[in-house]
Amino acid sequence: MRASKPAAAREPATQAALAIDRLDVRYGRARAVQQASLLLERGTLAIVGRNGMGKTSLCNAVTGMVPSSGSIRLFGEEIRGLPPHRIARRGVAYVPQGRRVWRSLTVDEHLRLAHRFRRGEWTPDGIYELFPRLKQRRHNGGTQLSGGEQQMLAIGRALLLDPSLLLMDEPTEGLAPIIVEQLAATLRSLAARTEMAILLVEQNLRFAVDVADSVAVMVNGCVVRTMPAAALAADRALQQQLMGVHAQGVGS
Ligand SMILES: Nc1ncnc2c1ncn2[C@@H]1O[C@H](COP(=O)(O)OP(=O)(O)OP(=O)(O)O)[C@@H](O)[C@H]1O
Ligand SMILES: [Mg+2]
Repeated sequence: MRASKPAAAREPATQAALAIDRLDVRYGRARAVQQASLLLERGTLAIVGRNGMGKTSLCNAVTGMVPSSGSIRLFGEEIRGLPPHRIARRGVAYVPQGRRVWRSLTVDEHLRLAHRFRRGEWTPDGIYELFPRLKQRRHNGGTQLSGGEQQMLAIGRALLLDPSLLLMDEPTEGLAPIIVEQLAATLRSLAARTEMAILLVEQNLRFAVDVADSVAVMVNGCVVRTMPAAALAADRALQQQLMGVHAQGVGS
């Protein structure tokens, strides 16, 4: 049984899935994340922001992959400072930026390997049901997959860890528009039918507001504001202001 479940079961209403408080991440003298605070009670929260604002660094701090200071609580329990494997064991799964599937393993080997680490609700067959395309490609190696297929595999592998919190760093990067639409539908349905909370980093605003309940904006390592996704979707001027000329605006 996952470590986070008993705590969540004891105090279901009070413990946020993820509560980040005054988080700092430094690379030498440079501060990539500066006093960032964030609350994800349940459901899906998107983090948006331009290049280099500290989004990946924040994800890497949550998953224990870079040192940080401040507080990161998962269902009420402090996880900051734990090594990555212990954070993963507490129910945090990560789909990192750029996906990173193994070249030498087939789709099926990827999924079965992930399934060995955790026996939860998800099975490789369940992943094939979710992504029928992966079933067709089950004997293909990681490098033979398209960008969309690699993304499905990275998500499938993360789900097999039966996470209570799923982090995804720019999952739509490099994907064709039709695949992006399918991914949005998949994430919405996962959020609706499971208790898993999702923290989604995105530069594609349309995708972010389509999938998330609320949106946090990162500027220069700080979370400068959090708002309902619908409020951002309705405000073109704000979208332009937040993301600048490179933004893929909602409705554009
Ligand atoms: N390993 C590292 N060593 C030194 N500096 C780093 C390292 N990783 C990131 N940085 C710097 O930290 C800052 C934040 O980078 P980060 O990758 O977290 O931003 P991001 O918002 O994810 O950007 P992008 O949208 O391009 O993915 C940037 O100035 C970046 O150059
Ligand atoms: Mg990044």
